[in-house]
Parts: sequence; C-alpha cells; structure tokens
Amino acid sequence: MKALVLAGGHGTRLRPITNTSAKQLVPIANKPVLFYGLEALRDAGVREAGVIVGDTAAEVRAAVGDGSRFGLHVTYIPQHAPLGLAHCVLIARDFLGDDDFVVYLGDNFIVDGIAEFVGDFRRSRPDAGILLTKVPDPSGFGVAELDPAGRVVGVAEKPEHPVSDLAIVGVYLFTPRVHEAVRALTPSARGELEITDALRLLIDQGADVRSHVISGYWKDTGRVEDMLECNRMVLETAEHRLAGRVCGDTKVIGRVVVEEGAEVSRSHLVGPLVIGAGARVRDSYVGPFTSIGADCRLSDTEIEYSIVMERSVIRGVRRIQDSLVGKDVTVAPAEYAPKAHRLVLGDHSRVHLDR
Ligand code: G1P
Repeated sequence: MKALVLAGGHGTRLRPITNTSAKQLVPIANKPVLFYGLEALRDAGVREAGVIVGDTAAEVRAAVGDGSRFGLHVTYIPQHAPLGLAHCVLIARDFLGDDDFVVYLGDNFIVDGIAEFVGDFRRSRPDAGILLTKVPDPSGFGVAELDPAGRVVGVAEKPEHPVSDLAIVGVYLFTPRVHEAVRALTPSARGELEITDALRLLIDQGADVRSHVISGYWKDTGRVEDMLECNRMVLETAEHRLAGRVCGDTKVIGRVVVEEGAEVSRSHLVGPLVIGAGARVRDSYVGPFTSIGADCRLSDTEIEYSIVMERSVIRGVRRIQDSLVGKDVTVAPAEYAPKAHRLVLGDHSRVHLDR
C-alpha cells in the first residue's frame, strides 16, 4: 500500500500566512500539521509516499526531506496548478503503479489516526474506501449516502441540500481501478478534477465502495478557527515537561511544555501550553491552549488560545487571544507620539484591535 499525500494548493483561507508558507506546514503544538499525517500513514503500515507539491514545493521538501525521519520513503510529485484531488491521482499514475493506495490531504487532522481504516480495507479489499464523520453542517464538504449495510450508494461535492450528515474526511483508499475513472473526468464547476466525481463514477459502474465512520476528532485545518481548535485538542494531551529553564519567580499551573533552551522568567504560565526551543518569555502571562514557536521573544505581554510561529517578537501587548501569528513578526506598542496604531501588514492580513 502506497500513500499519496497532497501538500499543494494555495491555502487562501489562511492568508497572509500562506502567502509565504505552505498551509500544511502551519504548526499545531509546534509541529507542522502535515507531520501528524505522515506519522499516521507510517502507523498504518505505509512505507512509500508520493507527496504532491505546488508553489510551496521548496518549503515542503525542506521540512519533510526524504521522509526517513517518519519511517517513510518520500517521492515528490510536482503539480503545476491546483487542479483538484483527482488531478493529483492522475499525475501520480507512474508513482502509484498497480498498487493500492491511500490519498491523504495534508491539511487534514485526524486524532485517532487511520490504522483501523487501512487495516479493514486490506482485509476486505473493496474497490474503494472513504472515511466519514458526522458534522452538523455537511454542505461545506463532500457528502456520502449509505445503504443499511454501510455501502456507499451516492456522493455529492458540497451539496446545497445534503442527503446525510456524513462528511467525507480527507482520506481515501483506492485499488488501481480508480485510474480509469480518474481518466474519464472533466473539470467541475470550480474548474477542478474532483475525487468525489471519480467516486461517483465508480459507484455508477457498480464498484464496491465502502465507508468507515470515525467518531474521533477530525478537522480540515483550512481556517484560522480550525487551526486554533486543533491546537487546543493536541495540547489537551500534552505531557508536562520542563526541559528549558523556568525561573523560580515564575508561577506554573497545569500541564506545561517548555522545550530545550527556552527560558521563562517573572511570568505566569497556565497550561496546557507549549513554549518552543530557544524562546524567551519574561514578565508575561501565557494562558491555556497557546503554542509559542521556537526562538520567539515575549515580554510584558498576555496571550492565550493562540499560535505564534517561530522567531516572532511580542512585547508590551495585552491581551492577545484567538490569534495566529506568523514567523518573524513583531507586535509591540508604538514608540513615539502620537499614540496611534502603526501597521505594516502583508496582503490579506486581518487585524482586530481592541477599541
Ligand atoms: C476536499 C474534498 C471534499 C472533502 C474535503 C475534506 O474539499 O473535495 O469532498 O470533504 O476535502 O477536507 P476541498 O478542501 O478541496 O474544498
């Protein structure tokens, strides 16, 4: 069983972070969301992964390398434009050969992994398998219709009137039979070759498409709210570990991770939270569900329920909440009169100031 990991796309909903970074590399508890997926594939017994890369290829390659640190052998497959999930299968044809494979969307986050789903598929080997989860509003996803035996009898991409509450999670299992279906597709209304259309074609041809409904936590991390929520979920399970230096003048409550080389002084930490390697925190409050990236500098600041990426500086600001801060950012009070907001913001930035 091979894997096809999708790490291209533009990530428009996470701008401006994605103007310079791949959306799959935004960190959850200081680890790129894509890494959780690669680990889940390894844990499901996959050894060979093709990674589809787009504009952010260089960054994804630098982060993932040859895959050996995940126990995987990684081959990169460039996609010149984000033309859809089924297009990824099309261009990966040579890599996939005649093997069964799992398609894994690199920005999806599944807490319980996929080992059970892959194991079931290996045993019963239907033509395709999809992972489903119940959501309150499925109209933003692919939606599946099942017969009483759990066979998939219909699928629709982002339907206005969903026929069920079962959303398609971004993990799919295929036998080589899918290749013929993929070759027969034409672009959808959004101009993409949809994997949902390939599934529908298989169903129409009488193929055996099974489903596996997960009850555990799943998020498509396309939006800031989703990233923060995922970060909260992962930090919930973090184990208390103080590898860095926490000075005696700092109050620590709850489960807190302070990585190697980090230093915290005259501060108040209320976990769960993580402070990355080499970061410095002083005279600050860091509250629950916060991830501070490596080599950040925080002083005279209050922050909670937020993600701050590497090397950013935040000083003299109270209070930051529900925020996603990119790399090498500075947030600080204006140093000269008049008292005013002075902003240098990238395209598509969003700033919500306290009035
Ligand atoms: C894609 C699929 C959709 C699925 C979703 C899961 O949507 O087309 O069927 O439910 O991933 O994340 P997209 O993220 O391309 O809008």
